[in-house]
Amino acid sequence: MAQDAQSSDTLSEPRSSSPTPLLYSYHSSLDEQLLLRNAYGRILNNQNDTYLLPADNEEHRRLDLQHHLITLSLGGLYAAKDLVHRALWPRTDRTPSILDVGTGSGSWAVDMAIEFPYCDVVGVDLVPPRITGKLPPNCRFEIDDANLGFVHYKDAFDVVHARSISAGIRDYPQFLRELALVLRPGGVLLVGDGEMQLYDEDRQPLSYNPNSPGCSWTQKVFFSAYNAMKNRGGNIDSPSMSPQWLRAIDGLTDVGWHKIFIPIGPWRQFDAREATISELLRADCLKYISGLAPLLLSEGYLPESVDTLIREATTELRDLSVKLYSRWCFAWAVKK
Ligand SMILES: C[S@@+](CC[C@H](N)C(=O)[O-])C[C@H]1O[C@@H](n2cnc3c(N)ncnc32)[C@H](O)[C@@H]1O
Repeated sequence: MAQDAQSSDTLSEPRSSSPTPLLYSYHSSLDEQLLLRNAYGRILNNQNDTYLLPADNEEHRRLDLQHHLITLSLGGLYAAKDLVHRALWPRTDRTPSILDVGTGSGSWAVDMAIEFPYCDVVGVDLVPPRITGKLPPNCRFEIDDANLGFVHYKDAFDVVHARSISAGIRDYPQFLRELALVLRPGGVLLVGDGEMQLYDEDRQPLSYNPNSPGCSWTQKVFFSAYNAMKNRGGNIDSPSMSPQWLRAIDGLTDVGWHKIFIPIGPWRQFDAREATISELLRADCLKYISGLAPLLLSEGYLPESVDTLIREATTELRDLSVKLYSRWCFAWAVKK
């Protein structure tokens, strides 16, 4: 605990004598040298050693779909609505500002810029976003690696958001400490992610043993990807651990969290809203699974095993032959 309190005051070492980050604007052309094209013809994000998942238009379309389903599930762009509104109230002394770390396609950043037109929004990612419409004038993007820290942004933001980025973060508790220091007093930190653990129709965790009789192919793929991401150094357990890690940071208070079970595909009759969300999640999972081949191959899986895993999981999800839930965790905290 004492160690946590001490380290919560410590930002990562500056990367250069310059106070500005090592970035280039998203308007610069995509630097193909930093990207790797895989055997399946898709562009991979390999700008750090940890994150080996697609970073092409197809992936950004998947992220847009996922953004849509999370927004529907949360009933808005963020959890902890009262705290966020309080942190972003229109003020006369300065412009409130929002940081989105691991912004992906940029959808959350753009939607926040539209919802809060009097705020500045910055999205940061290893790769440029995919902006299809008009970029709101109060929104911009930077290319940077969150693992290098945010010393240049100390006390700069009123809301900091990091969603589904854990696979690319080497030390998630340290990452949270960095984000806490980036916040202004009264600012809100929002983190969220889907678990790689899947759940059965009674919301019980499915077996981690891929050879157990009741194990679904989808769970097998998720479990294999979980191991691969962990072996590459990603902090993939962060969804369930975030509340605990946030509580250990001295500079934060009012930690809260919210967990949502979402059926993967419309296998249960509930209501129209859930049917829409679960259908979107099934489409999201199908696209996600189809992008996992390079990660699994990098783990030493044989190409034929990868093909079988992906094909069987795809069939299972399309046929809804197994009733699965995915659990999403959203946590928040306020800077003292
Ligand atoms: C699964 S996507 C989520 C995108 C977005 N946050 C969302 O919820 O739609 C993860 C994103 O995090 C980015 N990412 C992963 N590791 C990163 C790092 N170390 N620094 C910056 N971005 C990172 C990836 O490039 C990718 O765009």
